[in-house]
Amino acid sequence: MLWGSGISAYQAEGDNVNSDWWVYDKGKSAKASYFWYKWKDDIELLKQLGQNAFRFSFEWSRIYKSENEIDYSALDTYRKIVDKLLEYNIEPIVTLWHFSNPIWFYNKGGWLRKENIGYFLDFVELISKYFQDIRYFIILNEPNVYSFKSYVEGSWPPCEKSIKKALITLNNLSKAYIKAYQILKNSKRLLSVAQNLVIFRPYKLYNPINVISSFLNDKLYNFLFLDKVKKYLDFIGINYYTRVFVKFFSNFVYKKDRDKNCLGWEVYPKGIYIITKLVYRKYKKPIMITENGICTNNDFQRINFIKEHVEYIKKCIKEGIKIIGYIYWAFLDNYEWAEGFGPRFGLIEVDYETGNRKIRNSAYFYRELIYNEKR
Ligand code: BGC
Repeated sequence: MLWGSGISAYQAEGDNVNSDWWVYDKGKSAKASYFWYKWKDDIELLKQLGQNAFRFSFEWSRIYKSENEIDYSALDTYRKIVDKLLEYNIEPIVTLWHFSNPIWFYNKGGWLRKENIGYFLDFVELISKYFQDIRYFIILNEPNVYSFKSYVEGSWPPCEKSIKKALITLNNLSKAYIKAYQILKNSKRLLSVAQNLVIFRPYKLYNPINVISSFLNDKLYNFLFLDKVKKYLDFIGINYYTRVFVKFFSNFVYKKDRDKNCLGWEVYPKGIYIITKLVYRKYKKPIMITENGICTNNDFQRINFIKEHVEYIKKCIKEGIKIIGYIYWAFLDNYEWAEGFGPRFGLIEVDYETGNRKIRNSAYFYRELIYNEKR
């Protein structure tokens, strides 16, 4: 089984000046976690920490600076990262789109326009040719979160509030996913999406509006995208964090007096068991936990988080569910989108002033856990 941790390009590399997020946050992500400059040391750390998988992403906007200008030196750096991982027997799990878009793509209307899908597919073609030796691709990360944040909540660029646009975007992303799958697919590769799945529960069990809203969230947020692409999934990537209580459509709350992370999300380990079982029953595909993690300033809480969630993963395996990997989020402290640098998810602490790394006790705890599981 794969045991590792993950990051995404925009959140960790630094200096992604051609991304729409760079425009949106006015370069606030700056050097992020300095991964672009420190990847060699970071891969040494992964090895030292006993992990046999690493999930990270290729930044489309770094490679395609403009519509028809490929930066081969950037491509070459990714090539070296992949080579180093393979040399150390660390499985690269590469995400091809993790929320951030090239500025020129965004200016053309981004994912709202189906005519733009082809631009992403050019990028996919290029990667497919250049990286024949990558086995695991996550074609898209959390299309549901992206369309929700950008077009329902309005907290991510382009910050609009239109359910119609959210649905169009989700639909275009599903088309892009299917076409990208067809480009990449060969007998050696395993392809999927990383889908954010939330445990939705009605705020009050006997309130029909709460019950219907919770049901709709489950259908639209959790499963609409997966249902659209279900024929094109070699396994299913689950990103699991929390449970919410639904009042009305997208109005949800966390219950009081529960264990929470630093963003106020409930820590609900049993949820990983419930959702994994449900997804396995529904789609009958192997499962990879592509993200699961906690932001906290208390590393004991992180240790407990990992321990309890992995216990439930083991319960799933005992019950016959095929789980091919567990990826803790995140390998490094990193830039948490609209929330900025406050929330610390990393197994490795990053000093954002200097880029210095410090291994947290939870990373050693995770190493021990992996060691025992692999025996
Ligand atoms: C995203 C990550 C993010 C994490 C924690 C996931 O929804 O894929 O980019 O850092 O959640 O919020």
